[in-house]
Amino acid sequence: MESLRIIKDEHRNLWRVAITLDQVIEEMESTGTVDGAFLGSVLDYFEQFVDRAHHPKEDQHLFRLLRQRSSSAAPALDRLEAEHREAPGKLAALRQTLEQCPSTDGAVLRLTTALRAYLAELKAHIRIEEADVFPLAREALRPEDWHEIDRAFLDNQDPVFGQQARAEFRDLFHRIASLAPVSVGLGSHTAGGLHSRNNHHDVLLAVRDVESCYGRIKALKGISLEVRKGETVALVGANGAGKTTFLRALSGVQPISAGSITFGGEDISRHRADQRMRLGICQSPEGRQVFGPLSIEDNLRLGAYTQPKHFFAEDLEKIYGMFPILKEKRKLPAGTLSGGQQQMLAIGRALMGRPKLLLLDEPSMGLAPLLVEEVFNVVSSLKAQGMTILLVEQNAFSALAIADRGYVLETGEITLTGSGRDLIENEKVRSAYLGM
Ligand SMILES: Nc1ncnc2c1ncn2[C@@H]1O[C@H](COP(=O)(O)OP(=O)(O)OP(=O)(O)O)[C@@H](O)[C@H]1O
Ligand SMILES: [Mg+2]
Repeated sequence: MESLRIIKDEHRNLWRVAITLDQVIEEMESTGTVDGAFLGSVLDYFEQFVDRAHHPKEDQHLFRLLRQRSSSAAPALDRLEAEHREAPGKLAALRQTLEQCPSTDGAVLRLTTALRAYLAELKAHIRIEEADVFPLAREALRPEDWHEIDRAFLDNQDPVFGQQARAEFRDLFHRIASLAPVSVGLGSHTAGGLHSRNNHHDVLLAVRDVESCYGRIKALKGISLEVRKGETVALVGANGAGKTTFLRALSGVQPISAGSITFGGEDISRHRADQRMRLGICQSPEGRQVFGPLSIEDNLRLGAYTQPKHFFAEDLEKIYGMFPILKEKRKLPAGTLSGGQQQMLAIGRALMGRPKLLLLDEPSMGLAPLLVEEVFNVVSSLKAQGMTILLVEQNAFSALAIADRGYVLETGEITLTGSGRDLIENEKVRSAYLGM
């Protein structure tokens, strides 16, 4: 059923674009201005991705086999397939209306109305697939069906949805993110090789029975967890579970009252925060905490304070390579950056400390959906470069989706652990954290 996961991922991206578009439509309605480049990139994405790849592979494999196996699926499939057929025409009409903006009278209103209708249908379509069709498919399809469907969805050579095509869709998606208005957009890119001295398998961080209190309140009640070199580990949990307290205990700003923390084989439980940073534990804190009045470059300089001076220029260029927007604005006060850009700065600042273990505290917090995607792209690209990452998130699905392993934290205790995939599939996690 790997194919269902792929479709769900695709739906999630579509949903993010749809929510972003909702916001842009509202702005269009209140200002009367139309951002042709941004809307054009969204229509490109719908056309290239949705019409050429997403729909055909559902029609040809999943829907076709489901029709054969389940008669009760027919009404939903009839509707979905009809919508698939009509989608290119609707998109062409949207493009035509967009081209008439803003010169033709009433075109902006026609465009916003048509876009709203398109989005309403897109969302309803996704809901029907997820709520009605997928459960039916799970029930009715046989192992040999799944084998065929999964093979088609995972065929990396396929010109329509293989690796090459997926890279193109990702580029289109990045284009949307970089063209989106400042209120929802970011303009970040991911690139560049960072230092990576890590190998897999050996344990980098080992935490045993750690407790920590605020006065009489015990916020951490005996946490044990480990992170191996090169791993991305997600720590997920609701508000107030103790995620931030735990990260602060690791970086040494929150005292622990019991247990031990070992890093690279050394017991660091009593080390000061700056000593831990020198060993390579670098944190991007909750709420970003960039220094607003200082320039962007000076913020990055602060992240490098434990490093020898001669690393600075080279490391700075790497960070600027990853986040060109920071380079462009390097002389400006950090406070002038948007929320998403400040998050990139906070991550960049942590990277300037040449982390062996990067601690990220809710990097997606408070960001618009499209930026959430960009932040997770950045984390994925750091992971691909071999960085060891402990990622704390309320956004459990996205965090677990890119993590090798995960831990669920509930009121100061680890209640579940497993591979990222296992936790996503876990019924308890799904109902508590994933809203499904
Ligand atoms: N400075 C503090 N003084 C007293 N209690 C605190 C303090 N900071 C946090 N707590 C309490 O400790 C518990 C854990 O809080 P913590 O901030 O670590 O949770 P969290 O999982 O990071 O939550 P969030 O998702 O809201 O960031 C909560 O009950 C919280 O009220
Ligand atoms: Mg927190």
